[in-house]
This record gives sequence, structure tokens and C-alpha cells, in this order.
Amino acid sequence: MLDGRRVLLVISGGIAAYKSLELIRRLKERGAQVRCILTRNAQEFITPLAVQTLSGEKVCSDTFSLTDEHEIGHITLARDCDLVVVAPCTANLLAKMATGLADDLASTALLVTDKPILVAPAMNFRMWNHPATQANLATVRGRGAAIVGPNAGMLAENESGMGRMSEPAEILAAVEGILAAGPLKGIKALVTSGPTYEPIDPVRFIGNRSSGKQGHAIALALARLGADVTLITGPVALPNPAGVTTIHVETAREMLGAALGRLPVDVAVCAAAVADWTVSNASREKRKKEPGSPPPAIELVPNPDILATLSEKGGARPRLVVGFAAETEKVVEHAKAKRDRKGCDWIVANDVSPATGTFGGDFNTISLITAAGVEEWPRIAKADVAERLAWRIADVVKGVSV
Ligand code: CTP
Repeated sequence: MLDGRRVLLVISGGIAAYKSLELIRRLKERGAQVRCILTRNAQEFITPLAVQTLSGEKVCSDTFSLTDEHEIGHITLARDCDLVVVAPCTANLLAKMATGLADDLASTALLVTDKPILVAPAMNFRMWNHPATQANLATVRGRGAAIVGPNAGMLAENESGMGRMSEPAEILAAVEGILAAGPLKGIKALVTSGPTYEPIDPVRFIGNRSSGKQGHAIALALARLGADVTLITGPVALPNPAGVTTIHVETAREMLGAALGRLPVDVAVCAAAVADWTVSNASREKRKKEPGSPPPAIELVPNPDILATLSEKGGARPRLVVGFAAETEKVVEHAKAKRDRKGCDWIVANDVSPATGTFGGDFNTISLITAAGVEEWPRIAKADVAERLAWRIADVVKGVSV
């Protein structure tokens, strides 16, 4: 059931809009509250009156309507819900979502929301197959949106192919999959991700090449299972994952401070590539080249170990603390030693030796080191590591044995 869950349904202008009326009815039957935004083009296919009658809520269609803005501003509309469903999502609206255009209420709400988004594309198969649409889809999916459909079948122009919007029952199942109380509901999780930057002077720093992809994917996967997730990230070129509270930091000390500030949590996953050292003689002013002088010495001192600090015994220790280890040889032996040294519960050990093709590749080979022993995971896509880890966390975190 979806009792009390609030869905914002964005209906854009395609013939499949008629199926959205059925979707509203089914969502309401399941107990959801449904608010709808109709684009201008959607109103060529279905009327606001029909949508309003079925949803029992005022229909919103124009960003600049003064009464709408007074009663429910577009920011409230986009954030006062548990899920945004875009059905049908035309090629045009998908392109706006990918590029961040906000030129009407629907696209503005999609840009402003911090809630999970479910997209049900519907379009002509040539539009669907176009590389631009596929690139837009990959962008939107990469930012964390879930996609349902499209299906193959008869399309509006008496042509058949891929592009038919999923049936209301399929969209409803996807909605329930996202909104049903996940196994981590009620669980607070903290994830660190990305590199840290340690300043040498106001313009230079010591950093590393961590992309943050794995940590961000773990934060998203935990949120999808219902956890209340805070992601603390160093500088990365990734968007904030949907449905996750993201805190941006630069240095290891800032990362530690932010992490301690979020305690108590139930689960902590340290995926960040934290710099081991920071510069003790960092200059307040930009260091200048002095003609004839040797290069300045950079003095390093150790950074605090965030994983080890969070693992320290005490009242605020998370019930489950997970660290990462990238090893090139004796993977399990080194990872076990790291687990003991840091005092964490699990180590996700990664074989990054050149023969595995892990660096730069799409697949990963993981050994999960726990108190009970070593679990060897099959070689899986990097994107699946996060999901598998999140489910593994869900398996144990509601009981206490780790
Ligand atoms: N970590 C941390 N704070 C640090 C250093 C590391 O939280 N100051 C965490 C990382 O997020 C990761 C794990 O500790 O979960 C990795 O430990 P680390 O000692 O950095 O491992 P390696 O980089 O593999 O180092 P080495 O093999 O050289 O010991």
C-alpha cells in the first residue's frame, strides 16, 4: 500500500498522457496523495479538469500563475512529496532534465526537487533510438533517476517499435518498489566519498584522482533501500545523489569534523580516498618563486584517520563501520590486517592489480572481510557493487550481529 505517500506526477505532452489518468486512479486506490503538473502540451491531450477530478487536488500548469504561486509555490510543490513521477516523459522533457532547463513549471519542479524521480519515457521509436535521447537518458539515470520502460509495440503514428509508455500497472509497481518501506527505513547512514584536498597555499593543494563514483553510488543505493543518508564528499565532478543529504568538504580534517557532527548514526561507510598527510607549513599567501632560491620544502604531518576514529569504541560508535582497501597483492591478508588496525567491522577489499583490469575498467572483484571470515564476490559491474553492499548492510543492520 502507499498510504499517506505523496506523489508529484508530471504529465508532459504525448498521446500516452491518457494512460496517466488511469495511473492517477490506481495510485489513489493504493492510498497515495497525487498532485499533478500538466505541461502546456499535455493539455492538448487531456484536460486539467479530468486530472483534477481524478486526483482530487488542484492541478498546476503555469509557473507564473499568481494564485498557484501563492498557494503552492513551485519549490514547495517539488519538495513536498516523497517521489516525483514523470509519465509520460517526452523526448523534449527528458532533454530539458538532462540539460537542466527550467522554462516551465514541470521542468522547474524537476530541477528544484531533492526527491527521487521515476521517469516513464514515451515517444516515437526514432526519437527513442536517437543518440541524443539515449545520451540524455544516460545522464538522467546517472544522476539517480529510476527509469520504467518504454515498451515495444504499436505507436501513435501507426508505426511499431520501442517507445510505448509502460502500462499504468507497470508504473505503479515501479512506484511501489521505490516507496514501499525499504529494509533500511529508520536507519541513519553516513558515507564518505571522493578525495580530500590538502592546501599548500591558497591556490595549490595535494590531492588524488579519486572520482567519488563508488562512494556516491553507495550513498544512493542505501537511500534507495530507505536509509536516511548523509554523504560527506571531497571535491568531485559528480552531482549530489537524489534523496541524500550531501555535505561538501575539502580537507581530511573538515571531513572528520563533518562526520563527527552527524553522529550518532547506525552505519558508516568510509569510501573516501583521504589524503594520508596534510601540509603543516601551508602558507596563507601564495608561495612565490624566489630567483636563485631552492624550491620551498613542504612539511607533511599525518591526517586523522576518519575510519579508525569512527570505529573507536564508545557510546556514539555506529553499529556497523565499513572501510575500503585497494590492494595489488595478498589482498585478503592485507585487508584483514587493515580491519584489525582500523577497528572497523567490515573491509571491502578491492583487487586492483593490473591483471584484473579494475583500474579504468567497469568491473570489480571484491572480497568482503567480516568478523566471520571472507566472502568472495563474483566479478561484478562496479555499479552493482554499491547495490550488493547496500543489501548486505540491510541483511545485518536490523539484527545486531556484524
Ligand atoms: N581512511 C580514512 N581516513 C584516512 C585514511 C583512510 O577514513 N585518513 C579510510 C578510507 O576511506 C578507506 C580506508 O580507510 O575506507 C583505507 O585505508 P588506507 O589506510 O588509506 O588504505 P590504503 O590507502 O589502501 O593504504 P595502505 O594500503 O597504504 O595502508
